[in-house]
Parts: sequence; C-alpha cells; structure tokens
Amino acid sequence: MLGSTPGWPAVLADGPVVLRPYKRSDGRTWSEVRIANQKWLAPWESAPPGPWAEMNSARAFGYVYQDMKRAARRGESMPFAVCLQENGTERLVGHLNLGNIVRRAFSSAYAGYWVDSRVAGRGVIPTALALAVDHAFGAGGLHRIEVNIRPENKPSRRVVEKLGFREEAYHQRYMHIDGGWRDHLGYALTSEEVAAEGGLMARWRRVRA
Ligand SMILES: CC(C)(COP(=O)(O)OP(=O)(O)OC[C@H]1O[C@@H](n2cnc3c(N)ncnc32)[C@H](O)[C@@H]1OP(=O)(O)O)[C@@H](O)C(=O)NCCC(=O)NCCS
Repeated sequence: MLGSTPGWPAVLADGPVVLRPYKRSDGRTWSEVRIANQKWLAPWESAPPGPWAEMNSARAFGYVYQDMKRAARRGESMPFAVCLQENGTERLVGHLNLGNIVRRAFSSAYAGYWVDSRVAGRGVIPTALALAVDHAFGAGGLHRIEVNIRPENKPSRRVVEKLGFREEAYHQRYMHIDGGWRDHLGYALTSEEVAAEGGLMARWRRVRA
C-alpha cells in the first residue's frame, strides 16, 4: 500500500555520518561526485546503458530521484543519501540503499552502497551500513539483510567482514556489471545474530575502538 512503509522516511546518524532521504536539490552534488568517481564506481555497479556523464548528469538525477521516491513509497526500498557533517556543513558523499524489500515470511532486503573515493577508508560505509541494518531490524520490521559483492572487490568485502556478516553463498554469473555477467559472493545477517550485542552499530563501535 502506498505511504505505509515501516521505517520510511528516516534520518540516521552517528558522529559525522548522516543518512537521510534524497532531496530534489541533491542533483548537482550527486552528479559532481558520480562523474568525478567514474573509474572508482564503474567496475562494481550495474549501470544503465549510455555514456557515464549523461547517465550521471544533474538532469539524469531527476529520473533517478523519481525512481527512488516511487520505490520507497511502494515499500520496495529505503534509499539513503550518505552525508558527512563536518565544519558546520553537510555534504553528500555516498549512497546506501536497502532494496528489493520483501516482507511477510521473508522480511528481507539487499544492501547496496558506494562512497566518494575522496573520503574512502574513513569507515563511512561500515557506519552507514550498521546504522541502516539496525534501523531495518528495528523500525523497518525486517529480519534479514543481504549483501552481494564481486570476489575481486576487496574494499567492499572488508566492509561486511568488519561488521561480521556471514559469507553464505557463491552466485555464479549473478549480475551484469561493467560489460559482463559477474560472479558474486553472498553475505547476510539476520536480526538474531546481533540482538544479543545490542545491534550492529554497537558491534561496529567495539570493532573500531
Ligand atoms: C566499498 C566501499 C563502499 C567501502 O567504503 P569505505 O567507507 O571506504 O569503507 P572503509 O573505510 O571501511 O574501507 C574499507 C576498505 O577499503 C580499503 N581502503 C581504504 N582506503 C582506501 C582507498 N583510499 N582506496 C581504496 N581502498 C581503500 C581498505 O582495505 C579498507 O579496509 P580496512 O579497514 O581493513 O583497511 C568503497 O570502497 C567504494 O565505494 N567502492 C566503490 C564502489 C563499490 O565497490 N561499492 C560496493 C559494491 S558491492
């Protein structure tokens, strides 16, 4: 049903990392970051057909924004802009989506993410993912979060390994990325696995301390 998504919209934060719904006015920054990061992002994303600069222009964001908004309204996803709040200003530096949400007996979602290479290595995405997973298991009413990663993507595998996701599958020719059908490793986490520790954010705080 439209407009009745548990846990959406939401704003989540830990230190300088803020997750919030996208705004129409994010187009210019989103486009600048995406275009500056073409080489960094293209090997890992299922991109729409067309030149990168065009698919990631401020104009294209209008369509991306509408798509995200529609899917979120339908309860199919929770698309967060990942921002850094530093020196009194907030800037968009990445993206984290809980997508393919299926409820009832499955109550599961897939997480996808990226961050601007200029802020990589600061733990922004592990923090964002931990916040989003706790939110999904709490207000979002979900039970399981899955992340699928190309075996070659060591930085992304480190994100889920540091958070203690279980490696549980090897999907052959799983997704069409960067010109071919790419194998993926499947990682997952269910709410029971973090409940006793007070959630994934509590676990992540202990890991990074
Ligand atoms: C994967 C990704 C989201 C990680 O985000 P992040 O906020 O940098 O995560 P972390 O800070 O925890 O760093 C993760 C790992 O990246 C590596 N790393 C750190 N700084 C880096 C840099 N400047 N450049 C490349 N890799 C770096 C390290 O191996 C680090 O692991 P470590 O903590 O054991 O040292 C980010 O690398 C990215 O956006 N990559 C391109 C898009 C992508 O792969 N998306 C995921 C698809 S499944």
